[in-house]
Amino acid sequence: MSATPFIMDHPLIQHKIALLRDKNTGSKEFRELIAEVTMLMCYEATRDLPMKEVEIETPITIAKTKVLAGRKLAFVPILRAGIGMVDGALELVPAAKVGHIGLYRDPVTHKPVEYYCKLPADIGEREVIVIDPMLATGGSAIDAIKMIKRRGAKNIKFMCIIAAPEGLNALTEAHPDVQVYCGALDDHLNENKYIVPGLGDAGDRIFGTK
Ligand code: PRP
Ligand code: URA
Repeated sequence: MSATPFIMDHPLIQHKIALLRDKNTGSKEFRELIAEVTMLMCYEATRDLPMKEVEIETPITIAKTKVLAGRKLAFVPILRAGIGMVDGALELVPAAKVGHIGLYRDPVTHKPVEYYCKLPADIGEREVIVIDPMLATGGSAIDAIKMIKRRGAKNIKFMCIIAAPEGLNALTEAHPDVQVYCGALDDHLNENKYIVPGLGDAGDRIFGTK
């Protein structure tokens, strides 16, 4: 059975996503908002990181307290738009490694085309969070996760800012073991497989192309 997708309903996330949707938001502000939303989402997506008990000496006494148990984390952005989420993720978990997967959607078939893959050598021992602002048909996320699994990773999460129901269903069916985190679940895909209402082309808006 697949894990129930986690839709973030925190007011700060919803507010920032509203600004991301606005067509008048320019690239600089758009990039900053993507980083801020990613940071807030990461806070939730890392909630179940394992902890261990340690003893430390405070100025007052010896205290038993908890720290992260050293399980290694890797973020894997899907190029290109996923790059926009890396800084926000690393702000929260600076020790994480970063892999990269290059996929683009063919403009005619809307199917993902693979062009790059570089992952940490020990990816099989790491908890992996795949990051991409948009989950539309789900094709890119499904293929990216297949590539990561082929290289040995077993513990994978997927985090996106906006998802379409079509992509979410396809992803949870293809990878029922992957916990999905979304900032917002939108209405549907249009005839060009863009998310409605969505925010347009995330890569173009982050990098000022088009
Ligand atoms: C966008 C987005 C996802 C993909 C989602 O990337 O960043 O990777 O589309 O669509 P899907 O769920 O239908 O696969 P795009 O292919 O536009 O490439 P880019 O990031 O290089 O702009
Ligand atoms: N990719 C985007 O950047 N936006 C969409 O709405 C769909 C795919």
